[in-house]
Amino acid sequence: MATKAFVAASAPNAGFRRVYVWEFPVRLYHWVNALCVTVLCVTGYLIGHPLAISYSSEAYQQYWFGTVRFLHFVTGFVFFFNFLVRIYWGFVGNEYAKWTNFIPRQRSQWREMIEVLKVDILQVRVHRFITLGHNALAGLIYFLSFLAFLFQSLTGFALYSSMSHAWLPRMFAWITPIMGGDFAVRQWHHVFMWFFILFVLVHVYLVFYHDYIEGRGTTSSMVGGWKFDSDKPNE
Ligand code: HEM
Repeated sequence: MATKAFVAASAPNAGFRRVYVWEFPVRLYHWVNALCVTVLCVTGYLIGHPLAISYSSEAYQQYWFGTVRFLHFVTGFVFFFNFLVRIYWGFVGNEYAKWTNFIPRQRSQWREMIEVLKVDILQVRVHRFITLGHNALAGLIYFLSFLAFLFQSLTGFALYSSMSHAWLPRMFAWITPIMGGDFAVRQWHHVFMWFFILFVLVHVYLVFYHDYIEGRGTTSSMVGGWKFDSDKPNE
């Protein structure tokens, strides 16, 4: 209501200003991707290590493994198209969503990477200024993870091409012989699952770490889109 908005706008803000960083398509992509990666890792793990459950009924009366595989394939399609939408948004989105944040092309980006390494990893220096979008190192790591998304989609569709007549997976059938056959593709597809698991662990840790150290709303920004900026150096 108008009264509440007025109170919020006039409340003392301790020198911080709100900046709309993550647009709705970026937030939607982020949460769809998080859900897909979780479902794909759980179902993928089960496909790789099926549970040895014994039932009193006949095997043909069970379909749980079929359901696990079905879930994996459907989520694989959602994961792939969601990824394509994010690539598109990298060309039309705001300055924080642009593809230029992910590929270091300027000397200043490399300098920032060294600074982030010194502050976050080596902890030999205290932060001076904070980037609002991705810092240069995070951007580069997201770029490498986009390559992993691509690899996982290519190998996933290559595996799926042998069990589907649909044009999309069939387009990737050529990958299997190039990679040395079905077994090799499956093994690489499996190995990359561990990249996703590691990525999620480190990613969630760093979000909470930055939120705690910087106090600029890192965690909630992926829900509402807003972060808080200040011209003052961080204490
Ligand atoms: C985050 C992304 C993904 C992860 C972590 C993941 C993980 C896995 C794992 C661990 C396996 C079992 C491999 C084994 O040990 O035998 C598997 C199988 C498979 N995945 Fe994925 N996957 C992902 C994305 C995709 C995508 C995008 C597709 C495309 C449709 C796909 C299609 C398949 C297929 C067809 C199989 C073989 C299933 C079978 O033979 O029963 N995956 N996946």
